[in-house]
Amino acid sequence: MTQTMYISNAAEVITMQGHTVKPAKKAAMSEIHVIENGSVFIKDGKIADVGTDEEIRRKYQDEIHLAEHIDATGKVVTPGLVDPHTHLVHAGTRENEYAMRLKGKTYMEIMNAGGGIHATTRATKEASHATLYEQSKKRLNQFLEHGVTTVEAKSGYGLSLEDEMKQLEVAKQLEQDHPVDLISTFMGAHAVPYEEKDKPEIFVDRVINEMIPAVSEKKLAVFNDVFCERGVFTPEQSKRILEAGRKHGLIPKIHADEIEPYGGAELAAEVGAISADHLLKASDEGIQKMAEADVIGVLLPGTAFFLMAEYANARKMIDAGVPVALSTDANPGSSPTISLPFIMNLGCLNMRMTPEEVLTSTTINAAHAIGCADQVGSLETGKKADVTIWNVPNYLTLSYQYGMNHVDTVIKGGEQLVSGGSVHEKLSLSASK
Ligand code: NIG
Ligand code: FE
Repeated sequence: MTQTMYISNAAEVITMQGHTVKPAKKAAMSEIHVIENGSVFIKDGKIADVGTDEEIRRKYQDEIHLAEHIDATGKVVTPGLVDPHTHLVHAGTRENEYAMRLKGKTYMEIMNAGGGIHATTRATKEASHATLYEQSKKRLNQFLEHGVTTVEAKSGYGLSLEDEMKQLEVAKQLEQDHPVDLISTFMGAHAVPYEEKDKPEIFVDRVINEMIPAVSEKKLAVFNDVFCERGVFTPEQSKRILEAGRKHGLIPKIHADEIEPYGGAELAAEVGAISADHLLKASDEGIQKMAEADVIGVLLPGTAFFLMAEYANARKMIDAGVPVALSTDANPGSSPTISLPFIMNLGCLNMRMTPEEVLTSTTINAAHAIGCADQVGSLETGKKADVTIWNVPNYLTLSYQYGMNHVDTVIKGGEQLVSGGSVHEKLSLSASK
C-alpha cells in the first residue's frame, strides 16, 4: 500500500527549487522560493508535490484523508538541512586545549606540541569500534534534532591503515543503521603522525600506496580530503595525495587556507576538487580560480568563531561566482558543535551573508558539495522526503534568533523521526534505517 503524508498549511514552505543540476551562484543564491500557506505531499518516502494548501488539497482530494497528517500551521517548512563537512567519528574531547587557547596558546602551537589532532588521534585509536559507534550515533541524533538529515563524515583521526579503516567502518555501519544519510570521506592526510613528524614524505607515500588503494577497494569513501596547511601537508604533497585518490575513484576535497594563505584554493581549482573548505585566508587569485573551475566553497564560520580568527570572505566569494555552502566542521578541536542552525546565524552576522544565502548554503549547495543534490537539498517532486519543520513564523527568524533550537519536526525519507523537538525514543535506544 502506498504510504502517504500530508504536511499542511505552513506559514512558509521554502522549496529551494531549480538548482538540482548546478549549485546556485551569485544572485541565484537568494532564490529560495517561498510558498505562503504551503503544503507538501509525500508518497512512499519521496516528495510527490509541493504547492499552496489549496492546490494540494484539490489535487490529492481522493488520497489526503488516508495520509498521515502533520499540521504545520504557523510554522516554516524547509528541506532537511545538509552538513557537508564533519569529523563525526572520533573519541574524546579537548576542553583542556580550549582553556589553553583562552590563555594565549594558538591552535597550531598545541598541535605541534603533540596535542590537537594528535590528541584526538590517540583517543580514537584507543577506542573500540563499539565505543566510536555509540558516541557517533549520539552526535547523529543531535544533528537530527537540529534539523539535519544528511551528513558528510571524515576519517583522519586514525593516521594508520587500520585505524582509518576503523573510523570508516563505523561510519559505514551508521550509514546502514541510522536514518540520517552519511557520506564518507577518507582523510588519512589529516596530520603526519606525531611520532613520524620528521619524515612526512614516508607518511605521504603510505597514504598514497597503502591507504588510498585499500579504502577505495573496500568502497569505504566517496571523497579524499587533505589538510593543506603550513606545517601539515604542503601544496605539492596535497596534490600528490589528491591525484592518487582520483586514480582510485575518490573525488578530491581539500582543507584549504584555514590558518595561513597557502595556495589551497588555487590547488582545489587545479585538481578539479568538488569543494575547497575553510578558506579563511584564501587569496583573491585563488577565489577567482575556484569560480572559474566551479569549485564549491564550503565555509565553516564555527571554526573562525571558536578559534577567534578572522572569518572567510563570503561576500567576495559569492560576488566572484563561487557557489558557497556552509557547514559545522563538527570536531572536538576547532568547532565542537553540531548546530548547523547556529552556523546560519554566524554566516549572516559575521560573514554578511543574507538569510536567503545561508538557507541555500545549508541545503541545495551543501548537497552539491557532497554530490547528492539529485536526491536531497530541495523540496521537489521525486526527491527524498527529507523535511524539517521549524517552530518560527517566517524563515528570517531562523537566522535572526540565535543560540536556540527551533526544530519542531524532522521527517526523513517520509518517516517522522523528531517531533516536538525531540528525537523519537526508538532512535535513542536502537538506531534503525
Ligand atoms: O577542519 N583543520 C583541520 N581539521 C579540523 C580540525 C580537527 C581537529 O582540531 O581535531 C578542521 O578544523
Ligand atoms: Fe574540517
